[in-house]
This record gives sequence, C-alpha cells and structure tokens, in this order.
Amino acid sequence: MSVRFDPLGPVRGELRPPPDKSVSHRAALIGAMAEGPTRITGFLDSADTRASLRAVAGVGAEVREGDPDDHGGFFVEIEGIGLRAARPAEIDVGNAGTLLRIMPGWLAGQPGGEWVLDGDQSIRRRPMDRIAEPLRLMGAEVECRDGRLPPLRVRGSALRGIDYRLPVASAQVKSCLLLAGLLAEGQTSLTEPLTTRDHTERMLAAMGASLRRDGQRLVIAPAERLEAGDVPVPGDFSSAAFFVVAALLVPGSELSLGEVGINRNRIGLLSILARMGVEMGGAHESGRALTVHEIREPGPEPIATLRVRSAELRGVTVTAEDVPAAIDELPLVALLGCFAEGETVVEGAEELRAKESDRIAGIVEGLSALGAEMEARPDGFAVHGGGGLRGGRIDARGDHRLAMVGAIAGLASREGVEVDGFEAVAVSYPSFERDLRTLLG
Ligand code: S3P
Repeated sequence: MSVRFDPLGPVRGELRPPPDKSVSHRAALIGAMAEGPTRITGFLDSADTRASLRAVAGVGAEVREGDPDDHGGFFVEIEGIGLRAARPAEIDVGNAGTLLRIMPGWLAGQPGGEWVLDGDQSIRRRPMDRIAEPLRLMGAEVECRDGRLPPLRVRGSALRGIDYRLPVASAQVKSCLLLAGLLAEGQTSLTEPLTTRDHTERMLAAMGASLRRDGQRLVIAPAERLEAGDVPVPGDFSSAAFFVVAALLVPGSELSLGEVGINRNRIGLLSILARMGVEMGGAHESGRALTVHEIREPGPEPIATLRVRSAELRGVTVTAEDVPAAIDELPLVALLGCFAEGETVVEGAEELRAKESDRIAGIVEGLSALGAEMEARPDGFAVHGGGGLRGGRIDARGDHRLAMVGAIAGLASREGVEVDGFEAVAVSYPSFERDLRTLLG
C-alpha cells in the first residue's frame, strides 16, 4: 500500500501517543510468569504486541482482553502460570524481535518443555546467537538455523547463574538473561557495555524479584515466584518522537504530547536535539522550543507532557555512547540532519543494520531519493544538511519506523512524499496516519 504525505503546513494541537511497545511486550511476558492476575492498563494494540499476547496464551497463560481506550491501547488481564509451568508450543512472533529475543530466557529454564520460535521473513534475518551463546553458558539447550538465525528451538533444562559481559549493548539480550537468571541456580550478573532501557528491571523489581545494579553491572537472584500486579503502560516515546520531529521541522508548528514515557534510557533524542540547538526547558520555561513537564509516576515508569515548536537546527555528531538511548530514533536524526545547518554524523551505530530492516541502507537510500545529500558508513551515516528535501518516493522496506519517517519527510518536504509499503506501521502504530492527519490544517 502506498500513501502520500504532502507539505500541508504546520502540525498543531494535542495528542496522546500510543502505549509503549517495549513495556507492553514485557508486561505480557512477565505477567504470564507471575502468579495470579496482572492487570495491564493501556496495552499497545499493534501487530507486534498482539504476537506477545498470543505467545503467552500459547504456553498456557489466560489472556482476558478488556475495553479499548482512545489512544491505541486496551485493557488486558493476564492470569499468570508461574515461573515453571509453560507448556510446549510453537510460537509465531510475526515481526516482533523483542518477543523473539526475550521469551527464550524464560522458556530455557523449564526442564521437560520444548518450544520453537519463528516469525516473518524479516525476523528470519535477525541474529539470535547473541542470546543463544550466553543461554548455553547457563546450561540451556538452544538451536538456531545456521547457528545464528531463527527459527529457534529451545529445550528446557536446569540453568546455572553466570557472570556475563554483554558484547553488544542490547536491552533485549539483557532482558532475556534476566528472565533466565530468575530460573537459574545461583545469582546471575550481567555487565552492559553501555546502559540500555531498563523496563524489565523496573517491572521485575515491582513484582518482587531481587535485583541490584552497581554501575554497569546488574545482579539478579533466582526466584521461587513473581507477584502479579498492576502495570500502567506509558505512552511510547519512540512513537511520540515522529511528532516531535514533525513539529520541529515544519514552520509554525506547536504541539503538545501527553503521557509520554520519559525513561532516561529512552530519551537520548532529547539530548541530541539540545546539541542541535533546540532550546529546552521545564514546564514553566516559556519561549523554549521544547519543554518537558513531568506529570506523575503512577507506576515504575516516569511520564511527562512534551511541548514542541518549530526550531532552527544545526548539525550534530552522534557517537556510540548516545546510541542505546536513541537507537530507534536514529532514522529521525537522519531526517533532522537534512534540515540542519552543517553536517550531521551518526557513528557507532552498526546495530541499525540488524533491526527490522538494514536501517542504515534504508534511510540513506530512502532520503537520498528524496533529495538528501548523505552517505552510508559501516557504522552509521553522514548528512550534508541545510538543503531540506525535495520529495519523491520512499520504500518502507517492511520497516514500521522507515514508513513513519517517510511520512514526516513528506510533511517537511517541498513537493511531498509517496511512502511505499506504508502498511508496515501496523507493527507499532496502526493509527499513525489518522493521528497525524488530526494535527494538520
Ligand atoms: C528493544 C530494544 C532495542 C530496540 C527495540 C526494542 C526492547 O533493541 O531497538 O526496538 O524492547 O528491548 P536491542 O535490544 O536489540 O538494542
């Protein structure tokens, strides 16, 4: 399906972005591992997160779906089965890399069970050795196709705790090993090269797991059980980010985004924007292009209202240290770079090549076809900014985030953009087009 996005003027108004995808996946999985009912308010209604609900139902958890809300979520109650009672199943993860990488940590520690996890064509090229190798060190039996790709076959076995240094900064790998650590004998310690999103740690701690962090090192103790509880899901910063960028780029824009999760390991885009010259402040600092008003913390995740206005930008260099907290927003940094004065460089981001698509190739070829001056590098890209974008056609390559970048590029371009494969947005944000159009004109 191809959809056209024309430069229709400023984005104005208020929007509550859809619930967080990362938190929704974890709530489904960890809810299934707990004992008793876990009530999830604002579970993201998307292809990816529905795959997680089907997966936990497949291994025996009861999933009771409640009413939808007005911002892309619905209420779900999960009757957990406890840590060690998952029944054997074949699990179709669809396009959901997070589900595929995290769930095996739980399954691997349950002797007697056997599970196969597989998904779509894009999932079949995503590296799995990053979880299979450390799980094997814990005593797990995990087989992958060609030693590193899905499908993945997990045979449950008795696990032992390990001390492990993650070779790549990955919240998915960390989360997988934390779940395995709960079922292992002895403690498990994980050292991250750079801090990644900690939604799993927050949720496990809220459900009674024993976890402690000491700098980059995280230690988890085995558990007999997790306590079910209430999980409120914040708005997804990674979905809100498309609107933040639209408001910054389209002159005359003024936008308020409510109930956005601002976990510090997710909002690296904000510090990148500050370095691009966007003036930032707190709730009462008028005159700033972007304000962050922290409103309340009903659950383990902090939440804020973000207010954004259009602003002038200058080029920026994004280095490896910036990458984990902005990993899913780096395609948007490329788009911002087209409109910024000077050069924007992203380095230390080779992980982008192993996402839903090769996002370095996709964004460089995609934006270049719209008139950007940019080049790919092995670990990122460089944009020679200032010229904006003419417009044209962009291929989403089956990648939800590239489809949404294409839409925002269209609004900010001179002639508009046709996004081929736009239906990929259903993976994380099915109502993206409708939400965007309510903010136009
Ligand atoms: C995610 C972690 C990140 C991110 C992905 C979601 C998560 O992946 O890119 O969209 O929910 O844990 P990595 O852990 O591979 O960096």
